[in-house]
Amino acid sequence: MTLFQQAQEAARTIQGLTPLQPKIAVVLGSGLGFIESRVTEGVALSFDKIPNFRTSSVTGHAGKLVVGRLAGVPVMLFCGRIHLYEGHSAQDVAFAVKTAVLAGASTVILTNAAGSTRADWTPGQLMLIQDHLNLQGTNVLTGPHDENWGERFVDMSDPYDGHARETIKEWAKGQNLTLQEGVYAGFHGPSYETPAEVSMARTMGADAVGMSTVQETIAARQLNARVVGLSVLTNLASGVSPVPLSHAEVKETADRVKGDVVRFIEGILPIL
Ligand code: HPA
Repeated sequence: MTLFQQAQEAARTIQGLTPLQPKIAVVLGSGLGFIESRVTEGVALSFDKIPNFRTSSVTGHAGKLVVGRLAGVPVMLFCGRIHLYEGHSAQDVAFAVKTAVLAGASTVILTNAAGSTRADWTPGQLMLIQDHLNLQGTNVLTGPHDENWGERFVDMSDPYDGHARETIKEWAKGQNLTLQEGVYAGFHGPSYETPAEVSMARTMGADAVGMSTVQETIAARQLNARVVGLSVLTNLASGVSPVPLSHAEVKETADRVKGDVVRFIEGILPIL
């Protein structure tokens, strides 16, 4: 079976789960899986029960898909993702997003935890991703071209839909919510960046650094889906912060700003 046929098969399983047929998929990054508890009419399926699905071999728990309603809007919620740093290929990293689009999602909301390269931003703030730098040393479109996915040379001039960003920023103005907007630099990981790498990324225009998202965005754009990106700025990046980085800090901050993340996702779903 080709990768496309594998994704089609996975997509059919997802479509068969409920009559809801969501047009929006949400990928939840590190520490953001709690949003699942907000879903109504939800049907859950462990990733390892979806045919051909790529699951995390490292963390021990596969992650799961929940199809249901959030803020009344039908969504496919992907709780957990796989990363390049676990040893997965870029194609595998993006498989869930590709499947979601084949299953009917025309909009993909990608969330992640990220470090801020800016000392004037505060950990815990949310950042709407305006654009990205792919510093992961790979591209999901590498390899033989299968035209079922779309074009070989994919236009990336509006990777994070500009129109959606305007709508979201208008919405955020009416909320008691600080929403930054900036460029996300995707690194390979899993080591955090060195201060020199953060300084390089900052010089190149990055406002945030993380280890996910960019391959999924490229894959979604090839399939012509609209992408919205959200970074939870869990920490000041290495060298910007006076203290060493820790995964504990990342989890702690993500946990502390849960309420804002829920408000953001539930606020934007009905207006997208
Ligand atoms: N760097 C890379 N990934 C991250 C960070 C960071 O500072 N914080 C959370 N994820």
